[in-house]
Amino acid sequence: MSRLSPTGRKALLTLHLVTSLGWLGADLVLLTLGVAGLRGADPESVYPTAGLLVTYLFAPLSVAVWLVGVASALLTPWGLLRWRWVLVKFAITTVMLGLVLLLLTPTVRRLGDLAPDLTARDRLDLVIPPAVSSTLLIIATVLSTYKPWGRLRRATAPASRRAVPAGRRA
Ligand code: HEM
Repeated sequence: MSRLSPTGRKALLTLHLVTSLGWLGADLVLLTLGVAGLRGADPESVYPTAGLLVTYLFAPLSVAVWLVGVASALLTPWGLLRWRWVLVKFAITTVMLGLVLLLLTPTVRRLGDLAPDLTARDRLDLVIPPAVSSTLLIIATVLSTYKPWGRLRRATAPASRRAVPAGRRA
């Protein structure tokens, strides 16, 4: 099912790349701030800055990445539930969206409020989650370019009429 003109599809792919890789970039900035805080940088600069970044960039981008990613699947011949690499990326992004909105955002804002009275244990809350999520997003990027593992189920349409996604063509 492809409902987009070639120009529309390129525009959607561009939006998908800008949002998803922008999300990875923002995540790496959060990790950098977390490492700086752990190494003794001024907590009254580091944690309120991280709170602003999470609230106004990272959390909104999480929602945008999910929506544009789902649109990129549903509006192209890839589909959401046809190819394992798409489904795994969907799962990663959905779990991350939930964790960012329900756990990471309130935690990082609390760190901003508590600075400068933070323990080393508190400071790890801005190191471990961004390290794990950046790794997941790098895995999502690799899955996107290599597209491993094949299809989940066969198409029912005759082979001659079946839409073959551009990335699968020889
Ligand atoms: C809801 C989650 C996501 C879904 C359903 C999804 C789905 C898709 C689909 C269907 C395409 C192909 C688009 C086309 O050919 O026009 C694509 C491309 C791509 N996606 Fe995602 N994506 C998701 C999240 C992500 C994330 C989190 C990243 C990286 C951080 C990412 C990185 C990429 C890249 C780099 C491409 C370009 C691959 C290429 O053109 O060879 N995606 N995605």
